[in-house]
Amino acid sequence: MIQAAHVHQPDLLDELGAQLHPAIIAIDGPAASGKSTVGFRLANALDYLFFDTGVMYRAVTWAALARGVAIDDETAIGALAHAITIDILPPQPNQHDGRHTTVLVDGEDVTWLIRAPEVDRNVSAVSAYPEVRTAMTAKQRAIAQRYGRGDAEKRGIVMVGRDIGTVVMPDAPLKLYVDAAPEERARRRHQELAKQGKHIPYAEVLADMVRRDRIDSERPLSPLRRAADAIRIDNSTQTAEDTLAQAIDALRTAVDASLVQQDRN
Ligand code: CDP
Ligand code: CDP
Repeated sequence: MIQAAHVHQPDLLDELGAQLHPAIIAIDGPAASGKSTVGFRLANALDYLFFDTGVMYRAVTWAALARGVAIDDETAIGALAHAITIDILPPQPNQHDGRHTTVLVDGEDVTWLIRAPEVDRNVSAVSAYPEVRTAMTAKQRAIAQRYGRGDAEKRGIVMVGRDIGTVVMPDAPLKLYVDAAPEERARRRHQELAKQGKHIPYAEVLADMVRRDRIDSERPLSPLRRAADAIRIDNSTQTAEDTLAQAIDALRTAVDASLVQQDRN
């Protein structure tokens, strides 16, 4: 049962955020399933860092397109992934344009450029390259470990992606797999693009998304799949608030289980 009241209990959330060890929440799922929406809200409620790992693969793809590197040149794209510096920063107080994080590539703010349809179309090919994954996974793991230990400016981390629960942080004490029907996900993405003034036919958005999900799920290295111990949330007919409430219930169960385990040890 969804206990939406939890969403409005800051003290309970504060306590749960402090009790999760290591303080790492892994959220995976297909495109436009609502991973970032629930992840961002959960991170804010718990005072954790929100880290959407998809932006790193988007940043490499954007850099390749901007520099004229052919998307099918695996060697050149792999070298580019190692060569560029990607910085992920919390938004500045004066940035009210809906960003969850600021993304810099070699110092340039690419936060919105990495959301271009051309990046959407090419990102799955780029992120299937082993060199790209090696470079990105190492960076993500180092960040997750630092925040998970409590050695950083936030007391934990919510990490969102495709392979966080399976490959990047398989020991995360709470894993969520967020899903929704493809037609609903395409409807959401279509609406999002329209709000940004990008009027792409719905059928095209759906086809591109299904194609991207297929590449992400079928690649040999770190494919998109639910970790055996991840809790699946299907939010096809849920509001974002319902999804958050379900995530908080799952967090409470994970914290209770870890406290029982600590008592036994
Ligand atoms: O927002 P949306 O779900 O559409 O995509 P995203 O999370 O920004 O991820 C963009 C792409 O990056 C995905 O389609 C995957 O190809 C790749 N990705 C990945 O391979 N591994 C991750 N941990 C995160 C993203
Ligand atoms: O991160 P991911 O690509 O999985 O999805 P998202 O960016 O969190 O969500 C995609 C869109 O769906 C956003 O515009 C959300 O506001 C919307 N959404 C929704 O309509 N209902 C939900 N339960 C969750 C998200």
